[in-house]
Amino acid sequence: MNLKEILKKNDRLRRFVKCVKIKKDFKRDAKDFCGNYMEAKSEIPQLEYSILLIVHSLEKGLSSKKLRPFGNEKVKELIQVMNKFPINYIENPNTPFIMGVSILKKWKQVFDENRWEENESYKNVKKFLKHLESYDMYPVGSFRYTLKEALKYNNIDYLNAIKSRHSVREFSDKKISKDDIKYCVEAAIASPSACNRQMCKVYQVSSHENIELLSNVIMGLGGFEKKGINYFVFTYDIAAFSFYGERNQGYFNTGLFAMNFVNALHFKGIGSCFLQWANTAKEDEMVRKKLNIPNGERIVVVLAAGYYADETLCPCSYRKNVDEIYKLI
Ligand SMILES: Cc1cc2nc3c(=O)[nH]c(=O)nc-3n(C[C@H](O)[C@H](O)[C@H](O)COP(=O)(O)O)c2cc1C
Repeated sequence: MNLKEILKKNDRLRRFVKCVKIKKDFKRDAKDFCGNYMEAKSEIPQLEYSILLIVHSLEKGLSSKKLRPFGNEKVKELIQVMNKFPINYIENPNTPFIMGVSILKKWKQVFDENRWEENESYKNVKKFLKHLESYDMYPVGSFRYTLKEALKYNNIDYLNAIKSRHSVREFSDKKISKDDIKYCVEAAIASPSACNRQMCKVYQVSSHENIELLSNVIMGLGGFEKKGINYFVFTYDIAAFSFYGERNQGYFNTGLFAMNFVNALHFKGIGSCFLQWANTAKEDEMVRKKLNIPNGERIVVVLAAGYYADETLCPCSYRKNVDEIYKLI
């Protein structure tokens, strides 16, 4: 009798072994978090997320109705972080760094406009920005959001539009266009994220070999027609998170990100179905290695997608009613 058969016959032993495996994989999750979270190292992702966190904090200060001198400690912290970037990065920086420069410029501008007394932080910012004057300024800070703007699209039939999406498990074999993908990624980027840290990523799996790999390792593919299937892998960067209370934030953020992507696909005539990433730590590591997904990222979910077939059979997936879901407390 092999181990599987023994466990099948002994329920208590089976549950005990399951618990051991669960604890082992949770331990791996904790190790990954400790090894990659914001303060674990001073590498580019960690530094960029630190910038985004501070930018967000300063933007909230700038959105205050009763503006007064603020953010002295934050700008100091920001300069400290920005000084850690290597020179080759500064010559060709990513968006977070330019956002950092822009918010410092904005902060200084507000100080100047309000003729606030030049304190130590102000002088530091002025000195720091001297070397970065050539950078374009991104629209950071605050802006006036009007009721008119908020209600601009409220005449569309939103509820029925989102209700017209259904998970489909067969697709047409038309290749997904780059423009459609770009549109959907933009929709995903528009989703909210904790302190605007934008830690989610999406990978489109293109090679036949990697499509095969995912087809073999994903569990929930029963009932799928593989013809015309495209896979999108959604991940988040652990580097975006700074303390243990945030350890599960990545999953929530990626859920929002992925849903915006899926709704945009639907709008473009591309059907999809989420595939739960219910794999062991070992399988997860193997797949990340093969797909070249960095160690500091976690896979959250995979999506199978392709243009809608003319017709397909799909489960009704009837929903609970509003009273079962919503309670006024
Ligand atoms: C996180 C997540 C994981 C899912 N995993 C699978 C899966 O592995 N296989 C599958 O066929 N469907 C999967 N689904 C699709 C659900 O079965 C489907 O969303 C649900 O039945 C509701 O149907 P609808 O999407 O058509 O509204 C998943 C959905 C979500 C949100």
